[in-house]
Parts: sequence; structure tokens; C-alpha cells
Amino acid sequence: MSKAPSFTPKLTAEHLKKIAKEMENKPAYDILKWAIDNYGLRIGLASSFGAEDVVIIDMMSKIDKTKTKIFTLDTGRLNQETYDIMDDVHNKYEIDIEVYFPDQHEVEEMVRAKGVNLMYANVENRKLCCEIRKVHPLNRALSKFDGWITGLRREQITTRANIKKIEVDNLHGNIIKVNPLADWTYKMVWDYIHKNNVPFNKLYNMGYPSIGCEPCTRAVRPGEDLRSGRWWWENAVHKECGLHWDSIKQLK
Ligand code: ADX
Ligand code: SF4
Repeated sequence: MSKAPSFTPKLTAEHLKKIAKEMENKPAYDILKWAIDNYGLRIGLASSFGAEDVVIIDMMSKIDKTKTKIFTLDTGRLNQETYDIMDDVHNKYEIDIEVYFPDQHEVEEMVRAKGVNLMYANVENRKLCCEIRKVHPLNRALSKFDGWITGLRREQITTRANIKKIEVDNLHGNIIKVNPLADWTYKMVWDYIHKNNVPFNKLYNMGYPSIGCEPCTRAVRPGEDLRSGRWWWENAVHKECGLHWDSIKQLK
């Protein structure tokens, strides 16, 4: 008898819809286990090493370290603390991290035309920077995968309120997108981190409840909205960088 394939390359839309419905009430660990069992190294966690992502890394490593694939988008503008947590994760879990950089020609052209701090001038410039430094590298990374995993949570911002735990990502060739923490609260994330002794970005101890690039993230005061330190000079409606347009398309 022939052996069953170790991963499911692509599911039909109908099959996936059924699975997504069944999975919606399952806990994060079970969802990740399903994803790893079915996709193996063909599915990767997009990690910015924020609190949600380190929770997922901890769970994935407990499910099967040999099938834990992690990639990160290094925009070239990250905080030193973010590079430190990348190393901490690599050392603790003994897992390699695939780093994707922006295209050097695109960055050079953008910076020559608009300056290194273009993001503060207007929303269009900021989105261009995110497009070149984050979205294009993401597209390159995802072209190698049949699915991706993210740390998105519904509670984070209104644009994410309707995300599902399992989605089809039409923007990246109908691959699967898994958001195992979709229904988690910020408290649940931190309870898990403390209980399981998970390493986290030291910026959290310095008043940063959400972490992106250094020029576009700042600490917030107690009681302020958790994402208010991201692109703090912009109107809340713009506070997405384009990595997740597939999940929030209905709100655009
Ligand atoms: S962002 O779109 O506003 O920057 P956010 O910081 O909330 O996103 O992170 C949401 C999820 O997007 C993370 O849990 C992670 O899966 C993914 N993500 C964000 N930034 C990166 C990055 N630099 N590299 C890889 N994945 C990222
Ligand atoms: Fe550029 Fe800021 Fe977007 Fe990072 S978050 S890619 S620095 S605009």
C-alpha cells in the first residue's frame, strides 16, 4: 500500500471551507498541529517576534521542532531589541530563521527619490516604504509556501475583527493562511508567555505593547490603545502596512 503524502499541497476551496468551519472553535495548539501535520515544512510562520509570534513558536516547537518553519521580514529598520529576540529564539529552540530582506534596488530608488525618513511626510510615502520593505519581501517568501501562519488577533484593531482561524489567501495564489490566536486576548498571550517561560522582546518592558519598525513605533502610556504607538502620527484607519490585505479585504 502506498504511503500517504506527508503534507497536503493544496485543498479544494470546498474542502477547505469545511475544515475552516470545523477548526473555528478549536484551540490554538490543535489548529497548529493540524497545519503542521498536513503541510509540514510547506507552511511557515511569519514572525516579527512580537508576543503573539513567540507563543506560536513555542507551540510549534512542542508539536514538532523538525517541521517548524519560521521566516521574518527584516525591513532594515528594526530595533536592536528585535534582533536580540531573534537570536534568543534561535538559541532556545534551536530552530533556523529564514530572513527576507527588501530588494536593494527598490530601496535605493525610493530613498534617493524621497529620503530615508519618507514615512513621516504623508500616508502615501509611508505605504510605499511598507510596500517595498515588507510587502514585496513577503510576496517573495510566500511564493515558496503552500500556507502561512500569523499571530493576528481580532482584538488588535477593528480592521482585524473578522479574521478567521483558517482562511484562503487569494492575494498569494490561494494558499492557506492560519491565524491560531485569532480569538486570544492580550492577557491570554502574556499568561502563556509567563507560564511557559517563553522569551520575549525587551521592548515590551519599555512600554511598547505592539512592535514594528523603529521609526514607526513608540512606547504608549498606560491606558492608551495597544496599537496607538504604531504610526502614531497617522489616523487610526490607516494603521495597516499591507501584509494582511487578504484578511481584511472586506473592510478596504
Ligand atoms: S503589522 O501589519 O501591523 O506590521 P503586526 O505587527 O500587528 O502587523 O503583526 C501581525 C502579524 O503579522 C504578526 O503576528 C506576524 O505574523 C506578521 N508580521 C508582522 N511583521 C512581520 C515581519 N516583519 N516579519 C514577518 N511577519 C510579520
Ligand atoms: Fe517603512 Fe515604517 Fe513601514 Fe517599516 S513600518 S516599512 S520603516 S514605513
